Amino acid sequence: MGKLAGKVALITGAARGQGRSHAEGLAAEGADIIAVDICRQIGTVAYPLGSSEDLAETVRLVEKHDRRAVAFKADVRDLAALRRAVAEGVTELGRLDIVIANAGIMNTVGPAGDEDQAFYDSIDVMLTGVWHTLRATTPVLKDQGQGGSVVITSSTAGFRGIRTNLEAGSAGYVAAKHGVVGLMRVYANILAEHSIRVNTVHPTGVDTAMVSNEAFEAFTKDYPELTQSLRNALPKRLLEPADVTKAILWLVSDDAQYVTGTTLPIDAGFCVRT
Ligand SMILES: NC(=O)c1ccc[n+]([C@@H]2O[C@H](COP(=O)([O-])OP(=O)(O)OC[C@H]3O[C@@H](n4cnc5c(N)ncnc54)[C@H](O)[C@@H]3O)[C@@H](O)[C@H]2O)c1
Repeated sequence: MGKLAGKVALITGAARGQGRSHAEGLAAEGADIIAVDICRQIGTVAYPLGSSEDLAETVRLVEKHDRRAVAFKADVRDLAALRRAVAEGVTELGRLDIVIANAGIMNTVGPAGDEDQAFYDSIDVMLTGVWHTLRATTPVLKDQGQGGSVVITSSTAGFRGIRTNLEAGSAGYVAAKHGVVGLMRVYANILAEHSIRVNTVHPTGVDTAMVSNEAFEAFTKDYPELTQSLRNALPKRLLEPADVTKAILWLVSDDAQYVTGTTLPIDAGFCVRT
């Protein structure tokens, strides 16, 4: 029997990349999945976001593990839509135990232009959107009265600044990824008496469409000195999504029963690199 048998997990940004990997990994350990993704474009992002087809593929991959998945097209910027997805998902799957606030965008590279909106979009999706995810899900966990685990995907950019060619997008990304650490520290306290744990994970570069795309490639060619500053200590340029999933599987399982309020780097030594 899997470590997460009988549990239900909600994952935002589940159409592809790390979110999809987490859906598959948790399903392999016995969890049913509520998969949420925007499935449409945000104007300041220079690469395509997840699609309806991607989200359907995530459902199919979960079902391959004989687990159930229900998918919702919802934007984490829209609290009412998230609440509807949570209510319908919980009605369908019966409960909620695990929340992975993973949805994100990277508008830190790309052609220079009218950038200000990139700051607002980053904050709206990756800070306010995470808060919405907490607001929509934690009442269900509390009412259920059986504890729970919330993991927020931050970044190494939640520990230190990054420099790219777009000032406003970088500022928004870094501020949001630092900001969710604050949210985590508040909610780890608020929810502790309900045995609900809240932690952040901080991956270094991961091989997903967020960084493996034309805009990012152009950035690395045009700004080699800035790209150098994104190097890891370990000899590994980009992690695989599954590398992050493994850490999350530990965090959401009973093996991490007394782990809350932590900031877990999965960063190949990025943050200590001299
Ligand atoms: N890829 C990296 O190098 C890297 C490194 C550190 C942290 N992260 C973080 O990991 C998380 C997952 O990113 P990924 O690498 O899998 O990239 P990805 O682009 O493959 O996946 C992100 C998913 O989030 C969805 N999404 C975006 N905005 C949304 C919104 N408003 N509402 C709902 N869904 C939305 C996208 O459609 C997409 O499917 C993000 O929070 C990202 O900031 C990524």
